[in-house]
Amino acid sequence: MSPVYPFTVTIHVLSAMFWIGGMFFLAIVGAPALRGLDPDLRRRLFKEIGERFRTASWVAIGILVVTGVLNLHFRGLLGPALRGGSDFWLGAAGRMLTWKLALVFTMVAIASVHDFWLGPRSGRLTPGSEEQERVRRTLVWLGRVNALLGVLLVYVATRLVRG
Ligand code: HEM
Repeated sequence: MSPVYPFTVTIHVLSAMFWIGGMFFLAIVGAPALRGLDPDLRRRLFKEIGERFRTASWVAIGILVVTGVLNLHFRGLLGPALRGGSDFWLGAAGRMLTWKLALVFTMVAIASVHDFWLGPRSGRLTPGSEEQERVRRTLVWLGRVNALLGVLLVYVATRLVRG
């Protein structure tokens, strides 16, 4: 076994913990803790926390993709996956990898809409207006959907390893 392999798995798992754990922390601890504050202060704090988490989570996503590909290589799965033979993609590992990649793609698409389109749009709208409230609610739902997809992704990741 390559001595690098345990490090790529460790960094991969830590990045997954940061990204998924951060989403749950914001929803279960951060948002409720700010709820009782003055609306202006709450908006400022949430914007500041949200922007910092956004930057850090895109770094985590980048690390997950790079270490994920390295993990495939160290497991001996990268070659068969790239050769694209049906015996690999229709086997247990290939099927789980398909699910995993589909979930990663969906989560990254949702995070992009959240962070680069609706999030900035909400910031430009008048606070408390009807449209801003609608966009804000959509943002909250996109965050919830992505957190749930994240749980499913971790399940699929464990099935990929254990068959
Ligand atoms: C292109 C993207 C990705 C690829 C190619 C990939 C690939 C892999 C591979 C091959 C392993 C097995 C590591 C080993 O040899 O033990 C693994 C483990 C894991 N991955 Fe990913 N991964 C990707 C993205 C993600 C994402 C986005 C998450 C979650 C947010 C994630 C969560 C995990 C977890 C929790 C494990 C540990 C599973 C266990 O040991 O039971 N991965 N990944």
